[in-house]
Amino acid sequence: MRYSAAVNSWNEWDPLQEIVVGSADNACFEPTEPGSRPAIRDSPDTPFPTGPKSKEAIERANEELAGLAALLDSQGITVRRPEPHDFSAPVRTPGFEVENQYCAVCPRDVMITMGNEIIEATMSRRARYFEYEPYRKLVYEYWNADPRVEWTTAPKPSMRDGMYREEFWEWPLEQRHARMHSFEFCVGQDEVVFDAADMSRLGRDILVQESMTTNRAGIRWLRRHLEPRGFRVHTVHFPLDFFPSHIDCTFVPLRPGLVLTNPERPLREGEEKMFLANGWELVDAPQPVLGNDEMPKYCQSSKWLSMNVLSMSPTKVICEEREKPLQDLLAKLDFEVFTVPFRHVFEYGGSLHCATWDVRREGICEDYFPALRYEPLV
Ligand code: ARG
Repeated sequence: MRYSAAVNSWNEWDPLQEIVVGSADNACFEPTEPGSRPAIRDSPDTPFPTGPKSKEAIERANEELAGLAALLDSQGITVRRPEPHDFSAPVRTPGFEVENQYCAVCPRDVMITMGNEIIEATMSRRARYFEYEPYRKLVYEYWNADPRVEWTTAPKPSMRDGMYREEFWEWPLEQRHARMHSFEFCVGQDEVVFDAADMSRLGRDILVQESMTTNRAGIRWLRRHLEPRGFRVHTVHFPLDFFPSHIDCTFVPLRPGLVLTNPERPLREGEEKMFLANGWELVDAPQPVLGNDEMPKYCQSSKWLSMNVLSMSPTKVICEEREKPLQDLLAKLDFEVFTVPFRHVFEYGGSLHCATWDVRREGICEDYFPALRYEPLV
């Protein structure tokens, strides 16, 4: 059945109809700030560059983003792009000042579709405070086109110094290891904070990862907002990930009943139960082709960007061109695997899932966890 609403996407895998693909235009280096300490991979003591990225770095990423857009288009999927934005402009609010902004390569981090609703995340970093702006023109278009479209902007946090826990960056790894079950990171717990990419959608059931970019107040806000709309919100944890942010390199649902998991970041004990009790299978991704030390110099994400696949349907998935072991696994799991080169986009922190925001997929809200017992907040 075709559902013709302007905005309709309930999970990560239903047949894709319309999607936003990010752009590296005007991208800048992420500044050092209380929520982020970017470092150069092979020389962590050299100061991280600031201001605009080079023309070449932008062109290389844009070429790959255009390649993804062309593949999606060839499959009959409508592709939309962000509006230009001056990321080199500093931001000054009553609570903070930051010398430049970041980029519009990863719409996934900022925007999320929950059925017929678009939610703009609070964001967790100063340089990303206004990152919704390149998508506003599209949001207005959808919102004007269809009265069923809901649009929510989550409360903006102050991002003042006091919202962060700057000592986090100084904690030695052993201390981090000792604290790994308390889930305290660089963002405190007093204000509502979340990035959209810490969520994953499985019909009625939404997973939210407690992370460096999503705190417990953020998850509480999401529960109070989403539960009255019929969703069940589940907090998930990956205690072996000392720098957790954005769930899509860690726990990646591919179709009803199947999640691609990260062998180095298992779920907290007990959290796998909802999957196993409902007949879901958790399948570990193979080791990525490129190791952490082979990632682009300015990339702040891990080698597990390999897992950051984008589903065009429950049987068609797009994978990075060089990730052959993962492609083979997906083929064995009965997927038709499409590939595009995407290595130069890694510098901007994301791969295929991060660099997109699906606005419309076929399908309706389904319950893929019929055996679940859930206690709503209110
Ligand atoms: N923190 C993740 C890792 O390094 C990267 C997540 C990227 N995802 C995103 N939506 N930007 O494994």
